[in-house]
Amino acid sequence: MDNIDLWQEAAKDIYWYKKPDILLDSSRAPFNRWFPDGVTNACYNALDLQVEQGRGGQAALIYDSPVTGTKRQYTYAQLLAEVALFAGALMARGVAKGDRVVIYMPMVPEAAIAMLACARIGAIHSVVFGGFASNELAQRIDDATPLVIVAASCGVEPSHLVAYKPLLDHAIELAQHKPDYCIILQRPMLAAEIIEGRDLDWLQVMKQAEPVSCVPVGANEPLYILYTSGTTGQPKGVVRDTGGSTVALKWTMKAIYDVSPGDVYWAASDVGWVVGHSYIVYGPLFAGCTALMYEGKPVGTPDPGAYWRVIEEYRVSVLFTAPTAFRAIKKEDPLGEHLAEYDLSNFRALFLAGERCDPHTLEWAQAKLQVPVIDHWWQTETGWPVCSNCLGIEQLPIVAGSPARPVPGYEVRVLGKDGNAVATGDIGALVLKMPLPPGTFINLWNAPERFAEAYFSKFPGYYETGDAGYIDEAGYIFVMSRTDDVINVAGHRLSTGAMEEILFDDEDVGECAVIGVADAVKGQVPLGLLVLNSGVTTPHAAIIARTVKLVRDRMGPVAAFKLCTIVDRLPKTRSGKLLRGTLRKIADGSDWNMPATIDDAAVLDEVAIALKQMGYPSDKPSSSGPRSC
Ligand code: COA
Ligand code: AMP
Repeated sequence: MDNIDLWQEAAKDIYWYKKPDILLDSSRAPFNRWFPDGVTNACYNALDLQVEQGRGGQAALIYDSPVTGTKRQYTYAQLLAEVALFAGALMARGVAKGDRVVIYMPMVPEAAIAMLACARIGAIHSVVFGGFASNELAQRIDDATPLVIVAASCGVEPSHLVAYKPLLDHAIELAQHKPDYCIILQRPMLAAEIIEGRDLDWLQVMKQAEPVSCVPVGANEPLYILYTSGTTGQPKGVVRDTGGSTVALKWTMKAIYDVSPGDVYWAASDVGWVVGHSYIVYGPLFAGCTALMYEGKPVGTPDPGAYWRVIEEYRVSVLFTAPTAFRAIKKEDPLGEHLAEYDLSNFRALFLAGERCDPHTLEWAQAKLQVPVIDHWWQTETGWPVCSNCLGIEQLPIVAGSPARPVPGYEVRVLGKDGNAVATGDIGALVLKMPLPPGTFINLWNAPERFAEAYFSKFPGYYETGDAGYIDEAGYIFVMSRTDDVINVAGHRLSTGAMEEILFDDEDVGECAVIGVADAVKGQVPLGLLVLNSGVTTPHAAIIARTVKLVRDRMGPVAAFKLCTIVDRLPKTRSGKLLRGTLRKIADGSDWNMPATIDDAAVLDEVAIALKQMGYPSDKPSSSGPRSC
């Protein structure tokens, strides 16, 4: 089936208020538009349609929270009722189609309810991951300019509570844009202080609300904005449209994951990441599955059997998580002894993404679970997998280290710097032939020039993924590294450039470089090299502690910025460009050549000594080798 037939067929599988007559408008490439004259509603497809089709009494959303000791289930009918009420509450606060609503919440059902309520009335949600600090939140508030922010009083991490509300208040102080209202879910573990006139209590708001029905939404009207890290401190607001997302996500549930209505599908990620949008909330509901929301960790809540307990208890068919979760489990339970305590007979497949799955972890998971373990590759921008073994189409042999072949709808090429295809097996830039399929991003919020420039300018006719890799003789793709300064920490995509911008704000820091170094569990962690201004007398340890705190306070704990050292100089080219690639290779213990353009070769030796003192390269085997939800 060619691309046209594929999406024409897939589009028939969703509900449209007005069916599209036009499949694709590519007259303004790269701003391509699928189903431009179609009219639909993502919430209708996720909930109302399911109830109409007889799934009202089936569990739509299971909430399991070992960190709070809570379990709750919503049937499709119950979830619809909650969403319709919250949508009414938003409308009563003036939110209408096209308005933005920022959602800053932990893994609680109310986060999904808020997302679906926005979709119901055509408002555009922008979920911000709870592990980001006020500064990051403020940037997103200023860019998205929400009328309303929906937040919770706190998040619950295994070892501590994270007070979200003070972070939110500070973010609003920092932001130029001020929301009209904040709707706050007060969690029993920590009540938030309410600012009269601006803050509203979730429960009160729900009590007063009148349910509303779905608003017809143009296929190309945005469903959401999701900010992701680029090479600079300014995050990119990935915009996904309503029609394309609904068609594509529904199609992937069967084609890739091979799940059917009634199956329990669990994406152990966070609603703040793309995986959470596509596969905790929208995808499973579009497909009539039962979605699972887990507020816990793979280990420590309470032990490395946590995932197996959830799989048994809810008869999970498919689990999707990041390799880092399995590395954490493997580290604590290398023999997989906890597995023996649970019945996993309903479990059919494990999907991994967010970073390359190292062969050791893949083979360990396969041996222990005895189900297909599928590494699949995608990005916030694509919204759904680019390469995968598609269990619902045909299961290909699993090759460790590869996310298999392109999913129908994508054409992957490997290009050299000159823009020409490289030979089979040679590494180059991984690019996707235009047009991208439905459900991929259609723009960057407020930044169409950046959209065109950052992704489509270097290789005309192609989308540049920012990943490098190769294709083997069998057509399997191998994603090996990023081509930019993005690193992947525990499956979280972070910008080293953004960390450097923060470090530059320290009064004693004259120059700095942040690189990703291998970590046995998280895949990569950031490491900072600081050059101090001349005449600084503050003890180095104090500067390091201060800068580590600065990154944590500004970017958030998710950055996991804990490694930092002070060096006399940083290696640069004669034109003053920092030799990041060489630094990374030294830290990872990879082979490296002295760059011909280096200004002063002795600097590399000095930095290598500093890195060695910090334990890099490590003599322990690295978990994932090549780097980069
Ligand atoms: N709100 C507030 N803080 C959060 C948070 C949230 N939603 N999520 C994480 N954090 C904090 C953590 O408390 C931690 O803070 P700390 O430095 O004070 O301890 C920090 O951010 C880093 O968290 P995390 O990346 O989760 O690391 P961890 O060491 O706590 O756990 C793993 C490591 C591997 C167990 C964990 O990363 C994990 O479960 N990964 C699963 C896969 C996943 O979710 N991938 C995402 C994309 S698919
Ligand atoms: P995010 O946008 O946060 O989902 O991160 C996307 C990036 O994570 C990709 O560009 C890759 O660098 C990396 N990534 C995701 N999945 C894989 C995978 N299966 N193999 C290799 N890298 C991956």
